[in-house]
Amino acid sequence: MLIHLLADTPSKVAPIRAIVEPIHRVVPITADGKPSLAPDDVLLIDFDLRNETSIAQVREFLRKAGKLRQKIFIVDRKSHSLVVQAHALEATGTISRPLDRDEVLRRLSRLESATPRNGGDAAPSADLSSNSAAIFSSMFSAIFNGTPIELADAKRATEQIINSVSQGGLTAWLDDVRKHHEGTFQHCLLVSGVATSFAINLGFASDDVYRLGLAATLHDVGKANIPLAILDKPARLDAEEERIMRAHPVHGFDALKAVPGIDAEVLDAVRHHHEYLDGTGYPDALKAPAIADIVRLLTISDIFAALIESRPYKTTMSRAKAYDILNEMGGKLEPALVRAFKPIALSA
Ligand SMILES: [Fe+2]
Ligand SMILES: [Fe+2]
Repeated sequence: MLIHLLADTPSKVAPIRAIVEPIHRVVPITADGKPSLAPDDVLLIDFDLRNETSIAQVREFLRKAGKLRQKIFIVDRKSHSLVVQAHALEATGTISRPLDRDEVLRRLSRLESATPRNGGDAAPSADLSSNSAAIFSSMFSAIFNGTPIELADAKRATEQIINSVSQGGLTAWLDDVRKHHEGTFQHCLLVSGVATSFAINLGFASDDVYRLGLAATLHDVGKANIPLAILDKPARLDAEEERIMRAHPVHGFDALKAVPGIDAEVLDAVRHHHEYLDGTGYPDALKAPAIADIVRLLTISDIFAALIESRPYKTTMSRAKAYDILNEMGGKLEPALVRAFKPIALSA
């Protein structure tokens, strides 16, 4: 794969080449040169985005370069503000510094496997989301029929979603899913896309991105046991319906706990994705110390995805409005994580 490397100092080129070049070809370019990139080329940008002059240079370069499928920024792992800035410059993804060789190569190989080879610009996300939806459908029918789910299927759907979000960005994924899918499958596909995007942008190692993605893929499988009349009710649930609906995390946990090879953290996330830090959630009314980080991330992703769902009976809420609602939830969600979620929520 050909990677164009736009760096603000020549000294950044050699260390990146040392990591990437055995596998991919790296072409260093400068911001003042004339960009000659094809839409499918990968552009890796390593600029100090604390600096207004650098930001202006990158912005001007990207304007001249035109539409690009992949704009990956290298940013400091600890700085959420730099991740925000990268997204303000329309990053399709970020890689964290200090650079970890295996992590960088895994990220790039995911891009490579997701890049179309026919040179056309038709994003394959529609096929991918349909493929993933088919997997959701078979998982739900297994649970509905009381037969074991295939963990390999859930893993495959998660990988497809991570690839799609890494390749085309979250917005393309959300738009595609909302256009082609309905109801609970739409919700699950949206949550997985949002959660993996969140983890990638926080600079998580790929194993952790994958674990959160798998938890998101599986988080609502217990809804297979909830009547559709409740799941798809276009109005507020009454008290009895609410009681039935609130059992879905436990249904999911019960259906998954005996599945061979399932990760304990994933199981915990399935059971506890509706818990709140202040103890007002369900099913176990856990409080902050008992709620794991992965669960906190999943809960934020789940609420956000539920707010921006496309439903036939209501207008779709804007991502900005949905983010405002997350902010208004006070002590239920972790404020630092809600702040870190902002670039995901508001990325164009
Ligand atoms: Fe749920
Ligand atoms: Fe959910």
